[in-house]
Amino acid sequence: MRQDINWGELGFHYTEPDYIVRAAYHDGVWEEPYATEDKFLHLHVSATCLQYGQEAFEGLKAFRGVDGKIRIFRWRDNARRMQKSAEGLFMAPVPEELFGRAIRLALEKNLDFVPPYGTGATLYFRPLLIGTTPRLGVGPGRDFEFIVIPSPIGPYYPGKFHCTTFVVNRNVDRAAPYGTGQFKVGGNYASSFRATEIAHAAGMDCIFLDARQHKYIDECSAANFIGIKRRLSADGQPCGEIEYLTPKSSAILPSITNDSLMTLAREMGLKVTRRRIRLEELAQMSEAAACGTACVISPIDKVLDPENEKIYSFGPEPGPVLTALYRALKDIQYGRAEDKYGWCDIVTSD
Ligand SMILES: Cc1ncc(COP(=O)(O)O)c(C=O)c1O
Repeated sequence: MRQDINWGELGFHYTEPDYIVRAAYHDGVWEEPYATEDKFLHLHVSATCLQYGQEAFEGLKAFRGVDGKIRIFRWRDNARRMQKSAEGLFMAPVPEELFGRAIRLALEKNLDFVPPYGTGATLYFRPLLIGTTPRLGVGPGRDFEFIVIPSPIGPYYPGKFHCTTFVVNRNVDRAAPYGTGQFKVGGNYASSFRATEIAHAAGMDCIFLDARQHKYIDECSAANFIGIKRRLSADGQPCGEIEYLTPKSSAILPSITNDSLMTLAREMGLKVTRRRIRLEELAQMSEAAACGTACVISPIDKVLDPENEKIYSFGPEPGPVLTALYRALKDIQYGRAEDKYGWCDIVTSD
């Protein structure tokens, strides 16, 4: 294990790994993935990824568990999602098994970069698919490069699990209803920078509304949205069913974390509902959060809607339901709880 890395202080930043993994696609055939120390591409200036944004990416993690074993979380789901993104942008889909071999190779060649258990740090993989055909006329290319870039990243919560404030911005749309929002492609992120950078500068994060009516919650900048609803008795006490609510929209990324949390929520006896959620419904929720691979759950203390001078508050501390879900998922990822759903692939142990 690398002695020169302070695992607890890494943050969500790129740390240069020893190797990346690459595989090219030409004439309808993928080459076998190979590891290389070279982190630079020799790319034609007219490549379709540069000219027309023909690129897709993914994000997944490997965890060193309590037992010292390394677990890769749900990589097949990332592989399938990348295939959908590829189809959405007319790229050659990376075969699932090739994706898996590339991730494994990236892990095996960078074992020293898998952070120790107990630091909260993980080895993050950034699979990337780019169009490399030189082209001047607008259209997709026929040649592609698949790359896996591993990087250790620090814990999302270096201190304690805490809340973040989110803000609604109606001046920027992330993705159109039948655009590319459902795919993990660079253009969606570039188009959200105008909103996210303003929010980040104010110490907040962003919630995007549906682009057609600005009425329903779509998702956060790099995470899905979750709300928890509890019924209250006449004297204001929580009673009865607890509901896990998450938006249904053709413009949002199908989050693998959200899917895992919905499974765990059902197991905990919560009612899970995926439907359109009006922004004003936040007033009826007891807890809210963003969810994704980076943070698992990022609880929300407040959502600001400056245009309507409204503030939706959920209390300064993460609520009990989201905290329980956060712990349940992390326990599976770190091998502290049974992996009933077969989400973790144990790759190696030492
Ligand atoms: C726009 C967007 N939504 C949701 C997510 C969460 O997806 P996942 O849980 O698969 O990381 C991400 C992160 O990948 C994202 O970028």
